[in-house]
Amino acid sequence: MANELDGKIAVVTGAARGIGRAIALELAGMGATTALLARDKSALQALAEEIAASGGRAAAFACDLTESAALERTTAEILSRYKRCDILVNNAGIGVMGKPLHQTSPTDWERTMKTNLRAPFLLLRAFAPSMIENGGGHIVNISSLAGKNPLPNGAVYASSKWGLNGMMISAAEELRAHNVRVSIVSPGSVATHFGGSGDDPRAARKIQPTDIARVVRMLVTQEPQCFISEVLVRPTTK
Ligand SMILES: NC(=O)c1ccc[n+]([C@@H]2O[C@H](COP(=O)([O-])OP(=O)(O)OC[C@H]3O[C@@H](n4cnc5c(N)ncnc54)[C@H](OP(=O)(O)O)[C@@H]3O)[C@@H](O)[C@H]2O)c1
Repeated sequence: MANELDGKIAVVTGAARGIGRAIALELAGMGATTALLARDKSALQALAEEIAASGGRAAAFACDLTESAALERTTAEILSRYKRCDILVNNAGIGVMGKPLHQTSPTDWERTMKTNLRAPFLLLRAFAPSMIENGGGHIVNISSLAGKNPLPNGAVYASSKWGLNGMMISAAEELRAHNVRVSIVSPGSVATHFGGSGDDPRAARKIQPTDIARVVRMLVTQEPQCFISEVLVRPTTK
């Protein structure tokens, strides 16, 4: 049986580790040619080699998503190489936690917004026209339960995710007529090194990155196709 995503080009941000890495492996396993974005070039190259070793196709595009010129160069390079983008996964994100908003620095605010909110906007700007031209596409956003609830001592992170949700729900209405679907995945705590968290003894009881990858798999193969889907992912145990 042919793989579901044969011939499709998928761009995954934050593919160097954690959730993005798991999503890239999942989509590549489904046959998509996967463009891997993050700053850590050697981690991306190792992942591209791992995907190639199991018969898939992937390439590393090292890029700091907070640098708009670098991001523009990278998206242009991807479009020049593959001529299209069918699936964009906005996954890269940072979380600056542990301080109330009135003690949070403007620098941390800017860095968080540039990574979690501006980069998905710039990536949508870069790739949505190609999706429209090719008759459709899918933009999957890894948001957070912090984008639906208050997060004391994490207000900037919460703002970036509430903003991401509002921006993407609005863009979904704009893109609906072009057969470009938008999905939002909002996980609770996932066992990664997100926000600088080290090895956590409770990690085994948290949501695993592969769980989120399977949700993305479900979304990109979803029948009937919804023009906007939102999935909340909570762990089964506390
Ligand atoms: N883990 C959780 O509990 C949790 C819960 C809900 C939602 N989420 C969301 O899930 C997404 C992935 O998080 P994760 O848990 O997998 O975190 P992670 O392990 O820290 O991975 C974050 C990824 O984003 C990339 N990244 C960060 N800043 C970047 C930048 N400026 N330019 C390019 N890439 C950048 C990192 O690669 P480089 O450092 O190499 O650039 C890395 O690949 C985030 O959007 C996060 O908000 C996580």
